[in-house]
Amino acid sequence: METAKKRLFSGVQPSGPLHIGNYFGALKQWLDHQEEYDCVFSVVDYHALTSLKDPKLVHEYTLSAIKDLLAIGIDPNKSILFQQSRVSEHTELAWILDCLVTVPFLELSHAYKDKVAKGLEANAGLFTYPMLMAADILLYDTDVVPVGEDQRQHVEYAREAAAKFNNAYTQTFKEPKEMIVKNVAIVPGTDGKKMSKSYGNTIPLFATKEEITKAVMSIVTDSSGERPENVFAIHKLFLDQSGLDKIYSNPTMRGKYKLIKEALIEDLEKFIAPMREKRANISDEEAVRIINEGSEKAKALAAAKMAEVRSKVGVAL
Ligand code: TRP
Repeated sequence: METAKKRLFSGVQPSGPLHIGNYFGALKQWLDHQEEYDCVFSVVDYHALTSLKDPKLVHEYTLSAIKDLLAIGIDPNKSILFQQSRVSEHTELAWILDCLVTVPFLELSHAYKDKVAKGLEANAGLFTYPMLMAADILLYDTDVVPVGEDQRQHVEYAREAAAKFNNAYTQTFKEPKEMIVKNVAIVPGTDGKKMSKSYGNTIPLFATKEEITKAVMSIVTDSSGERPENVFAIHKLFLDQSGLDKIYSNPTMRGKYKLIKEALIEDLEKFIAPMREKRANISDEEAVRIINEGSEKAKALAAAKMAEVRSKVGVAL
């Protein structure tokens, strides 16, 4: 009888402090699935090298991402949490996939075009990024990949790479499906645009009370509508309807933007404080120990898959 859980894989680039947009847009779903799925999560440091060249920052952000994931509740006893660069099978498989896909196929990538349009260097790693991501996903016989809408095409690339390989060398890889959270609207930043590090409009996920206050006070409000929409949109991420009604349908609050912002500060503090404290209690040594253990587990799975791949492509002697 087949009772095995389905495999879920996702990755996050170590690219600096997380903000609540990262949390509600993607990471929260990771937590929601730890029981139901057999989860593998990766800090994809080699992906970050496509744009991050300062070794001190690579090191700092990688360690920081591991702590972030542990602090939000990724549980290494339930899920595999590993560092991509520690499992060399990822770059190895990426090469084999690179040899199967064409340049015009990769040129269809929206993410690549967007990044180059924004001024990022068009290095070859950035161009072949989708095949490294495909390798991440395919090595673990992944069924589903929870990602934000912006990563949908990347999962399609993984699926097509799997099909190409299977077609050329017989059935080897599962074709993964993206899992896009539906009712997560784009999380707005303090200026009402999409919350993004590059816009400088974020509320950090591990913000101190002072940082929360500063960010909330800077939220742009316009007084034309019924309620301050940019404040409401952030509140809506983590309050239920009755919680929202207490503030936004309360006659004594109506139009009192300062009071409403103060309520948001309190609610954000309540939400953030436990994670912030948990994070502060994770030492560098502890984070490294946990990620090393996870990386060994991932390595065992990836190595078995790569043995099959090597044999199929003919390099195993
Ligand atoms: N490209 C993803 C992002 O920027 C990160 C990523 C790399 C990833 N490998 C992955 C996500 C595998 C899911 C599965 O967000």
